[in-house]
Amino acid sequence: MPALRPAEMLDLHALARLWHAAWHETHAPLSPDTLVQLRTLQSFADRLAPLLPDTTTAGPVGQPIGFCAIKHDELYQLFVAPEARGHGVAAKLLADGEARLAAAGYNRAFLTCVIGNDRAARFYEKSGWHNVGAIDEMVETSEGPYALQVWRFEKDLA
Ligand SMILES: CC(C)(COP(=O)(O)OP(=O)(O)OC[C@H]1O[C@@H](n2cnc3c(N)ncnc32)[C@H](O)[C@@H]1OP(=O)(O)O)[C@@H](O)C(=O)NCCC(=O)NCCS
Repeated sequence: MPALRPAEMLDLHALARLWHAAWHETHAPLSPDTLVQLRTLQSFADRLAPLLPDTTTAGPVGQPIGFCAIKHDELYQLFVAPEARGHGVAAKLLADGEARLAAAGYNRAFLTCVIGNDRAARFYEKSGWHNVGAIDEMVETSEGPYALQVWRFEKDLA
């Protein structure tokens, strides 16, 4: 399994393509049409650029196979390419994200997950995260915040 490493600017476009493809594969079927229309490839590149300093990835530079970004006390984004799923890459990225959140001083972290993303929910539950229920979240879009109901998961990091 490839080692984890910090994401670099040279990964940006490949990571945006990975995120865009995996989002449209797994999230679009569970999301309102308005949001799906806003989730262009460019929109993922725009959102990812400021996250890069807080992003860990796996795979060669320019050819990443997954990534995990944190934001404050949130495990913010975790996406793995289809060919890398089921092989432990996601578990490694998640553990690294949790360690970075703990190192930043947070004792408890949260993440949100689109309602009905059962594979992700199972993955988080087997990794010690608890689904605390559905909440209304404002997700980022190029047209401003967009209200969406999502599952919220939490985990004690201490
Ligand atoms: C979510 C994700 C990171 C998990 O990584 P992974 O390598 O697929 O995870 P694993 O294979 O270790 O675990 C998935 C679990 O879900 C189970 N599963 C698979 N398909 C499922 C489904 N349709 N419904 C319920 N559970 C399912 C698997 O059997 C496995 O559980 P098990 O180990 O008890 O058998 C990865 O699938 C991914 O990147 N998905 C697309 C992007 C995404 O949804 N990201 C999360 C955003 S919140």
